[in-house]
Amino acid sequence: MTNESAKEVLAGWETSSHYWNKYQVLIEQMFASLSQALIEAAGIRPGQTVLDVGGGSGEPSLTIAPLVGAAGSVTYTDPAGGMVRSASEEARRRGMSNIQFHQCPAERLPFPDQSFDAAVGRLSVMFFPEVVAGLSEVLRTVKPGGTVAFLVWGPREFNPFFTAVTTVIDRFVPAEPEDDDAPGAFRFAAPMKLVNALQAAGAVEVSERVLPFTIAAPITVEHFWELRTEMSDTFRKKLARLVPDQVAAIKYTVQKAVAAYFKTGAMSFPAQVLLVTGKKPNH
Ligand SMILES: C[S@@+](CC[C@H](N)C(=O)[O-])C[C@H]1O[C@@H](n2cnc3c(N)ncnc32)[C@H](O)[C@@H]1O
Repeated sequence: MTNESAKEVLAGWETSSHYWNKYQVLIEQMFASLSQALIEAAGIRPGQTVLDVGGGSGEPSLTIAPLVGAAGSVTYTDPAGGMVRSASEEARRRGMSNIQFHQCPAERLPFPDQSFDAAVGRLSVMFFPEVVAGLSEVLRTVKPGGTVAFLVWGPREFNPFFTAVTTVIDRFVPAEPEDDDAPGAFRFAAPMKLVNALQAAGAVEVSERVLPFTIAAPITVEHFWELRTEMSDTFRKKLARLVPDQVAAIKYTVQKAVAAYFKTGAMSFPAQVLLVTGKKPNH
């Protein structure tokens, strides 16, 4: 990936951080089970030092910090300054003192070798400009025998939270042909793709597990439309190219298409992620 496109991806996250901050509470609620899955997969327990790569508006750092307790610590990282501010303000609001915040990409971690007992990344690896370099860097900072665990989106067809909106928007603003290796939500949706990258980075005992879950929150269809179109850089850019009547038509069609996921009066989407874990070799 060129330097220019890497900068563009990061600029997108920087703009998104405003909205990730706005929806911090909902994001935590919608994906709470994913933080738990990472905690279990990485075997995180009190007293450990844990690295969070691409922590966005704060997860899973904010969930892990109380778990590792005062004897342990969490090191949150993200290359987008706005994300770092949002996450660190939230930690301060909650009176947490065992999280350190660093603005840096996975590819350049400002930590000595073997600093952490474990490392986790929730829905962030697919955005690394240089995946194997980023994963190698994460492994460098983990202690020998330490576990790394990452979550990435599974295939589009199992994730209507995304596709219900994209299929409609794409009818109005045709999508450009996608490069499966470029940063994007579904970059590691293919089975074994992230496993291979993690092995190439030097991890051992690498495995992958499909994890179905539910994206649930007490919000209306109207609120869902607002949240989806604000949080995604791609949607924001596409909608900005349309006239108000077109946006209204898309909104109407999306709201009809997702009605089935709001039958109970709250949002409930079936979803699927892949959980990929591995270890740093002992020698
Ligand atoms: C989908 S968000 C996930 C945020 C958070 N972990 C969560 O699950 O709510 C992806 C995050 O990856 C970050 N990111 C982008 N490029 C990265 C890189 N090279 N290294 C680490 N994180 C990166 C973005 O800034 C963004 O905060």
